[in-house]
Amino acid sequence: MADRIPNSFIDELVGRVDIVEVIDRSVPLTRKGREYLACCPFHDEKTPSFTVSPVKQFYYCFGCGASGTAIGFLMDYSNLSFLEAVEVLADSVGLAIPREPGSSPKQADPPMQLLEIVGQANQWFQHQLRKHPDADTAVSYLKSRGLVGEMAASFGIGFAPDSWNALTDALGRSLQQREQMAKAGLVAQKDPDGVAGDRGVYDRFRGRIIFPIEDYRGRVVGFGGRIIGDGEPKYLNSPETPLFHKGAELYALHRARKEIGIRQRSLVVEGYMDVVGLAQYGIDYAVATLGTATTRTHLQRLFRLAPEIIFCFDGDRAGRSAAWKALQVALPEMHDKRQIGFLFLPDGEDPDTIVRSEGGDAFQARVDNRTPFSDFLLDHLTRQVDMNHLDGKAKLVSLALPLVSQLPDSVMKEMMFARLSALSGLTEIQLKKARSANLVPPRAAGRKAGPGPDSGQISPLASATSLLLQNPALGALVADMDELRRIKMPGSEILVGMIGLCKGKEGQTTARLLEAFRDSPHHEYLERLAVRANLIDEDALESQFKDTISRLLENQAAQHRMALLEKARRNMLDPAEKEELARLLQARAKP
Ligand code: GTP
Ligand code: MN
Repeated sequence: MADRIPNSFIDELVGRVDIVEVIDRSVPLTRKGREYLACCPFHDEKTPSFTVSPVKQFYYCFGCGASGTAIGFLMDYSNLSFLEAVEVLADSVGLAIPREPGSSPKQADPPMQLLEIVGQANQWFQHQLRKHPDADTAVSYLKSRGLVGEMAASFGIGFAPDSWNALTDALGRSLQQREQMAKAGLVAQKDPDGVAGDRGVYDRFRGRIIFPIEDYRGRVVGFGGRIIGDGEPKYLNSPETPLFHKGAELYALHRARKEIGIRQRSLVVEGYMDVVGLAQYGIDYAVATLGTATTRTHLQRLFRLAPEIIFCFDGDRAGRSAAWKALQVALPEMHDKRQIGFLFLPDGEDPDTIVRSEGGDAFQARVDNRTPFSDFLLDHLTRQVDMNHLDGKAKLVSLALPLVSQLPDSVMKEMMFARLSALSGLTEIQLKKARSANLVPPRAAGRKAGPGPDSGQISPLASATSLLLQNPALGALVADMDELRRIKMPGSEILVGMIGLCKGKEGQTTARLLEAFRDSPHHEYLERLAVRANLIDEDALESQFKDTISRLLENQAAQHRMALLEKARRNMLDPAEKEELARLLQARAKP
């Protein structure tokens, strides 16, 4: 596990950045009264309902319910992980991220050093393609595959000479540098029992064409190396390192993201050469998985950029089975407005070969003719059963239900039930009954609350939390924290914690409070409470908050009293409890 960033730093960071500036960089805002407005970047709209509050340091869309802090905005809008968002924000205000020692001492090195060495290696590989005496083989191989020099440069393609130590000699002069290179997957350790050379390590990539792999910010984090001509293994990739995670990264994502945004779709292919070949024919919205199956992280990253993902696979058995795997991973991600399509190529072709033989327009036409998600799902299943028999239809239902049930509630899900009903002859009601008997766990509720701030009835605890989140200054009004701490109900520790963060602290904001509880299982609910319409006049806020806290304390005391009385009835009170009960009864008698 990587080192943890201290909570105090997150708090300082959220206190330091201005959400208005952060959002304005991507979504130009206009001032309106105390808030800022824009058309919401998270849904289509013509009149602005996306508001940013500088006081709360929080954004909220009245149209679609999207909401969050500056960190949350970067996560959702720019497709970043929490850590990535923190890095970007810290950079923007010139703060260095401190790390608490993590559980794994092996990763004590800041990845900055790894990025540095990988960046240097990338420069070196590219330089070798231009200057190394043996680079001819690589250059003519690339040319033989129809690649133009411009594309090679645009993708930063490089060359690793066939040597055990060329890279090590160039970049690994000190022991410390060689250690970094090993951590970054550039070199491998020699067998400790073998005859160790002077360096103790050897170059991982030898005699290969090098494809640099960039992360979401365009920083090189790993490499793929193709053998020149025939040989095994055909491709060699960087191993998993602190920088490089195959299940999360997609080749060329940084390069393609703009075009994905413009086209509102992304194309997922299997190989580096497919991406490069397509780009050469003007198809610039393709990315590739890195020799692994599609993961949910991949899908989430792509869906943040555009609502449609198209998978392109070979038409052979391996291709269909890879597509089926991708479909299964995608099921829970198929919210309304999202789409997935499948493009199956003729047997023996891949995107690279077919775009070269047919050209960009013909390939584009294939993309436009993709197979929709639902068609592929039903086709794939109906192929496995005999639809001429009742048994086959029953089998279809039993195969399809566990899959369809994983779809989020959506128009697509309803359509799938309708189609399944038409195919099987069962009514939709019968199908849905079968589904509930099918022991499919009910899906968790959707991530975002429905549109519009909620103003319905909520518990006193939630109400106090909501008021405090929206007006942190109220925390100062709570005198007796000890009493409050006695309350034991789900979420009460959050209210107590938040009051603690608000008391005696200037400049507390909604955003800072929310970030302090990002790891809480109730974080999403807290975000909703932060935008809840509490419908209280500003003058009445203080008294309302105090009343709510009093109610909570009274409820708590009443429950406690009843428990003690019950015990007293059974003569089971110890002396301390007797005293406690006397105190409680007295307090109740007070006017
Ligand atoms: P060429 O066109 O022959 O250069 O390859 P390709 O891009 O068509 O690749 P292919 O369809 O054979 O494989 C797709 C992807 O799988 C590659 O881009 C690699 O990421 C990965 N891959 C292929 N072969 C190997 C291999 O031998 N080892 C590893 N680790 N990955 C491989
Ligand atoms: Mn190929």
